[in-house]
Amino acid sequence: MKELQQQFEHELLDCQTVDDIEAVRLKYLGRKGAVQEQMRLLKDLKAEERADFGARINTLKAYIEEKIEQFLKQTLDRQRSEQIAKEHIDVTLPGRSSWKGSYHPVAVTMQSIVRIFKDLGFSVQIGPQVESDYYNFEVLNFAEDHPAKDMQDTFYIEPGVLLRTHTSNAQGRVMERTSPPIRIISPGKCFRNEEVSARSHVFFHQIEGLCVDETASFQDLAWTLTEFVQKYLQREDAKIRFRPSYFPFVEPGAEVDCSCLVCSGKGCQLCKYTGWLELGGTGMVHPQVLRNVGIDPEKYQGYAWGFGIERMVMLRHTIKDIRLFSENDMRFLRQFPAI
Ligand code: PHE
Repeated sequence: MKELQQQFEHELLDCQTVDDIEAVRLKYLGRKGAVQEQMRLLKDLKAEERADFGARINTLKAYIEEKIEQFLKQTLDRQRSEQIAKEHIDVTLPGRSSWKGSYHPVAVTMQSIVRIFKDLGFSVQIGPQVESDYYNFEVLNFAEDHPAKDMQDTFYIEPGVLLRTHTSNAQGRVMERTSPPIRIISPGKCFRNEEVSARSHVFFHQIEGLCVDETASFQDLAWTLTEFVQKYLQREDAKIRFRPSYFPFVEPGAEVDCSCLVCSGKGCQLCKYTGWLELGGTGMVHPQVLRNVGIDPEKYQGYAWGFGIERMVMLRHTIKDIRLFSENDMRFLRQFPAI
């Protein structure tokens, strides 16, 4: 019995878990356990030995029961404090702030541009992104064989249906259903079948502007765009300049630049030492376009412009790769504050 007790003590001390202890309990106190086995020996003993032997078994049994209970309590206590240590929350640590979503940098710039033109009396008209050949090209006086209509530049959905290549598609639609005076802007997504690089993408944004009335002049256009860049760049001395250019739907046509927002025209790295930054195309609405939408070019005239948005965001934040705008990389997007 002494051996039995020592063996039990040994095994109990080896126990790590409550399950281990239960296995030891069964082994010693169970119906087929070691203690019961000793009990069974009683009947073979002489009567005078029996009382003493029985008493010793009972002592051992009580000892085992007590030890198991003690050990079980210790184990449970230890497990609980281990768990508490593991799940301990350090309330003195700084909190983890949750990240609030924010507008895409292109959307932010678009909103501020829209705001400025709204204040100048322009209202927003949205044109479709999937467009007919007619509104994207034909009504805008593109010749049937104009190179821009080539598969190289335009994504065709089916013959005669395409992804608009510019926001100018809104021009014909608006002029067809509205009689002058017309003063609208049309922001949105555009698509061109270009090779994707740091500077050009198949997917980009433009904002179109169109004014048609009896007196719209190139001077009005110059005033409107000057007013715009001064507000956009928040500099009263900001200027614009026109460079002659060709678009089939304007005459005369021009590329419009604004004075560099970093050096104000003196020349720096951003403007490549020219003092100017490119905004987009502009010009006086071609009389043929007015005729195409049933507006009398003898009575009415208009001006229009189309600016690329990504370029403006890239300039404002000195972003070097246009691909960043459409890659959904949170490391990039999180740098723009929520508004
Ligand atoms: N739609 C022209 C482009 O995408 C820009 C433009 C708009 C030019 C309006 C003149 C007038 O390049």
